[in-house]
Amino acid sequence: MSKKFDVCVVGATGAVGEVILSILGQRDFPINNLYPLASANSAGKKVFCQGKSWTVQDLATFDFSKTQIGLFSAGGNISEKYAPIAADAGCVVIDNTAHFRRDEDIPLVIPEVNAHAIAGYTKRNIIANPNCSTIQMLVALKPIYDAVGIERINVATYQAVSGSGKKAITELTDQTVNLLNGKDVEVGVYPKQIAFNVIPHIDVFQDNGYTREEMKMVWETQKIFEDENILVNPTAVRVPVIYGHSEAINIETKQKITAAEASNILAKASGVTLMDKREDGGYATPFVEASNNDATFVSRIREDISHDKGLNLWVVSDNIRKGAALNSVQIAEILIKQYL
Ligand code: A2P
Repeated sequence: MSKKFDVCVVGATGAVGEVILSILGQRDFPINNLYPLASANSAGKKVFCQGKSWTVQDLATFDFSKTQIGLFSAGGNISEKYAPIAADAGCVVIDNTAHFRRDEDIPLVIPEVNAHAIAGYTKRNIIANPNCSTIQMLVALKPIYDAVGIERINVATYQAVSGSGKKAITELTDQTVNLLNGKDVEVGVYPKQIAFNVIPHIDVFQDNGYTREEMKMVWETQKIFEDENILVNPTAVRVPVIYGHSEAINIETKQKITAAEASNILAKASGVTLMDKREDGGYATPFVEASNNDATFVSRIREDISHDKGLNLWVVSDNIRKGAALNSVQIAEILIKQYL
């Protein structure tokens, strides 16, 4: 019989944790015992995975030596405190937060892009999952980077509220219902009303005027591509969409690539679904195509009329699946197949 693993999911009751549980089931991950972990408030609740009911336990009192793999999605502060405890107890942590991503001795992995980096997990027993916006951008750009090189990436994101957790989903839906009923809205998670609005601000402002969400896309692209010279210029924007981030990307390549050549390359790329007909509806959108789908969709490929080596793409993916839960489970699959 093939080997089975004891797995804990930290943040199992959250927006990402719930999808991790469902993906572990869908992909038939070889689980022996599953330990869903959350705050003391959730202890005793039941969650379902692989046709069985499992009881949520309090993270604070959990003994990580019972597990070989930990999938963490409960926020940066929780990972900062508990990931090293888990790692020291022999549990390999796959962390969805930004906390460890920039640490040199922690691999930052997108399986379609740099699966080889997983080998470095032994240094600290922790592997970081990149930011959702970085993941879908690099799944789409890596095949082009390999073919012709990329000098510079200009990107504007259109990010769904689920990236800020369940409270943000409730904030968008409550505000929408209130506005449609002529009532006042309450603002809590975001600095301004998100319903029927667009907010050009995600995460905290940095000294250079960019936000941390934007700088994550710069730092993470350079680390994952192992290319400190690649230039990235992001603007990260929150939009009133529940699931699915979109990105308008313009790249300047090292050698010229035509739109047709880029399409041919992306049609064969792992994790990518090309949806690019130059007709009404011939492109992917977050709600209709990306939501609840594993693929990173690429549409609107066209040569930049303002730059000889410029190319435009529209890239859409489910931020909670490929942007978080699925990417983590894919890392875990490689880990157990090649390393554990
Ligand atoms: P809980 O539901 O018990 O609060 P989201 O990203 O959707 O906001 O979810 C956050 C996840 O992180 C939830 O599963 C939440 O559990 C968990 N979490 C938040 N704070 C803590 C904490 N102090 N200890 C353990 N888990 C926590």
